[in-house]
Amino acid sequence: MTVPLTPAPATAAAAGGITVRPVPYAETVGKRLRDEQFGVVVEGIKDINRLTEEEFAIIEKLLYKHGVVVFEDVDLTPAGQHALTNAFDPDAQEYGHGKVGRPDQASKSILHPDLRTIPGTEVQLIGNGLVTDEHVLQGLANPCKLRHPSHQTFHRTRISDDDSAKGFTRFYRWHIDAALYERDPPKVTTLYGLQMPTAKRNTVRYDDGTGDELEVPLGGTAFVSGKVMFDILPAHLKSLAVRTKVRYAPHPYVWMGSARARSTGLGMESEGTEMALDDLPPWKDEHVKTLPVCWKNPVTGHLHFQVHPSAIHELLVDPLPAGASRTPDTLYPDGAHLTDLKEVRELMYSMQRPGIAPELVYVVDWKPKQLALFHNRGTLHSITGAFAEDEVRAFWQCNQAASVPVVGPTEEDVRRCA
Ligand SMILES: [Fe+2]
Repeated sequence: MTVPLTPAPATAAAAGGITVRPVPYAETVGKRLRDEQFGVVVEGIKDINRLTEEEFAIIEKLLYKHGVVVFEDVDLTPAGQHALTNAFDPDAQEYGHGKVGRPDQASKSILHPDLRTIPGTEVQLIGNGLVTDEHVLQGLANPCKLRHPSHQTFHRTRISDDDSAKGFTRFYRWHIDAALYERDPPKVTTLYGLQMPTAKRNTVRYDDGTGDELEVPLGGTAFVSGKVMFDILPAHLKSLAVRTKVRYAPHPYVWMGSARARSTGLGMESEGTEMALDDLPPWKDEHVKTLPVCWKNPVTGHLHFQVHPSAIHELLVDPLPAGASRTPDTLYPDGAHLTDLKEVRELMYSMQRPGIAPELVYVVDWKPKQLALFHNRGTLHSITGAFAEDEVRAFWQCNQAASVPVVGPTEEDVRRCA
């Protein structure tokens, strides 16, 4: 079933009483993202906890076409959230980072320190401040103290306390929700906002010498399109992207624990501070993930530049395919295995940084009872914001390690782009 969607902000009628319209874009969102119709709002679902087959078919297609699907003012239950998440991958068995909802060696991992699993579900409570509402807690010990991650503890450099007080912040960490070891990246993540401050604004600073800034709502979740990130690359970098695979570090979130991130939140600084592979918790080569740079969208066939920048370790570049012409700017025409971490990071950074330019970022402006689904294999996202200890933010989050691996470019894609 195809769902009509007009490019204009007017509400468009869709099948089964469902309506679909573009998300409300901030003024900073540029023409390219608007033309892509990145992000849609869906209305008219009868019961979000029990979708009909027809409703789900529509939503699934919208997710793959538009990257982010938002529902406003819906009453979701943890069981309903789990069912909705699982509908995208019925064979998925466990939370994206494993059964316990926490990575191995959690104490050394840089993953969310305050992830709480709602009892009997794979739904995680995340947020900030002291949560006391029983409906939000769903059986977790009351009160529950949460802490919103801050760039202050993750980035190499920090915004001064004075500037923080004035509302300046950063992208915390651009990422894909994925263990990147043993488990396959979830297809979808669902985020349900229950409590959050709604009136406060922040300004994200890139602090990378470009002067780039972006005004965001406090605690807004920032998204970019992996398709756009790929599409805007010059031809010689598209050629490299379709020929390259990333080998991620074993137990990447433990490995990077002592390293520090760039000021844009897009990957790490190279200071030689990563944990030595021998010092990591036990790992097996067969569980180390080697994934293509470009992931193929199962509905549109488009290629999405999907690299988790802070976890990258090595790059494996295929040679140009037979018949492809070499030009002076062709990179690694005979293939390569890049193992110099700084070189690997610089190369990926040069390919990803254009894709997080302010005009290419859509930020969800959260309201209570708002649900956002995002295509985790087609977008990158980052949290933003500096929260005071007493500012309460509570979200339910769910994703599941996928039952199938990601799909890279086809031979035809490689021939076309190389
Ligand atoms: Fe995430």
